[in-house]
Amino acid sequence: MRMAITPARRLVGEIQVPGDKSISHRAIMLGSIAQGDTYITHFLMSEDCLSTIRAFRQMGVHIQIVDSNAVIVNGQGLRGLKAPQAAIDAGNSGTTARLLAGLLSGQNFSSTITGDESLRRRPMDRVIIPLRKMGAHISGVQDKYLPLSIGGSALKGIDYSMPMASAQVKSCLILATLYADSPTRIYEPAPSRNHTELMLQAFGGRLDTNDGYITAYPADQLHGQQVHVPGDISSAAFFITAGLLVPNSNIILKEVGLNPTRTGILEAYKEMGGSIAIENVSTSGGEKRGDIIVNTSHLKGTVIGGQLIPRLIDEIPVIALAATQAQGTTIIKDAQELKVKESNRIATVVDILSRLGANVEATDDGMAIHGPTPLKGNAVDSFGDHRLAMMAAIAGLIARGETTINGWECVNVSFPGFYDMLKRLQN
Ligand code: S3P
Repeated sequence: MRMAITPARRLVGEIQVPGDKSISHRAIMLGSIAQGDTYITHFLMSEDCLSTIRAFRQMGVHIQIVDSNAVIVNGQGLRGLKAPQAAIDAGNSGTTARLLAGLLSGQNFSSTITGDESLRRRPMDRVIIPLRKMGAHISGVQDKYLPLSIGGSALKGIDYSMPMASAQVKSCLILATLYADSPTRIYEPAPSRNHTELMLQAFGGRLDTNDGYITAYPADQLHGQQVHVPGDISSAAFFITAGLLVPNSNIILKEVGLNPTRTGILEAYKEMGGSIAIENVSTSGGEKRGDIIVNTSHLKGTVIGGQLIPRLIDEIPVIALAATQAQGTTIIKDAQELKVKESNRIATVVDILSRLGANVEATDDGMAIHGPTPLKGNAVDSFGDHRLAMMAAIAGLIARGETTINGWECVNVSFPGFYDMLKRLQN
């Protein structure tokens, strides 16, 4: 499907973005292996999260979709999952595939995980290698790609230093360790999102964190919880950026997740001179949340790298767009991980922004953007990557003429309703 976007005069209003994708996945997973029911509100009903729901339904978990954002998971207990009768299809979702690989490694049945064309190109050796050290019987195509075949086996805890900061790898190992006979100690080179750690503890699991080390423990039982999912800062990122770039804008984003492992974008934009304020801060289930208020701003270039990268990794496409409007050069470095996301986001971001008239070049570990440059509407491709489609739509709001985005439907991976919300701010 093709989407056409024309310039916006201004964006004004109050919105609530859908629930956090990472937290929604985890609530289904932990709810499924807990004892008793888990009630999830403000759940993200998107393609990726539906892949996780379908996976657990295939393993005999009763999951009731109450309405557009409420779900009840009838937990089966740690040992209550049933062998799936067919391969589990994670669709486009790396989180589903990688976290499930850990959870399924310690079951007493065999399973297969596959995914769509994009996911089948993404590296799975990052979970295969440590899971094998734990005693998992797991193999993939060329020992690296989906489909993964997993023969459930007895697992033991390991000491593992992750070669990259990855919440998916970390979470995979934490879930596997629930079924192991001894603890696992994981070292992460930089802090990545810690939603699994927080939610597992809320469900009664044990976990210690200390100076880059996470010690995960085997569990006897987890307990179903009420989970109220905060708004997804990665979805909010598109409107935060739009609010900074479109003239005369003022946007209030209600109840957005502000977990410090996710707020790198707010720090980067403040550094660039963005007018962003936070109000009404609260915490639930260990997850901080609050309202974000954004006003149109003059931005200046900056350097984004190091430990900041995992804290804004999914927002880099839209931050790169903001950088095209900033005075001076913005350097994004230490971000090689972009190459193995839903698309190669160094190549695809540079392609889209260049087509729109930006002055941007790819580097080995990121990109350099020279601004400000006026953008001109053009035809661009989403590359089947939801975050690129939405970034291009925000670019269309400030580009002269019309911007068309081919392959728009991938937006449903993380943000059904994105376009309606954007329209609402223009009225
Ligand atoms: C996610 C972790 C991140 C992120 C992805 C979701 C998660 O990936 O990019 O969109 O839910 O754990 P990595 O942990 O592989 O960097």
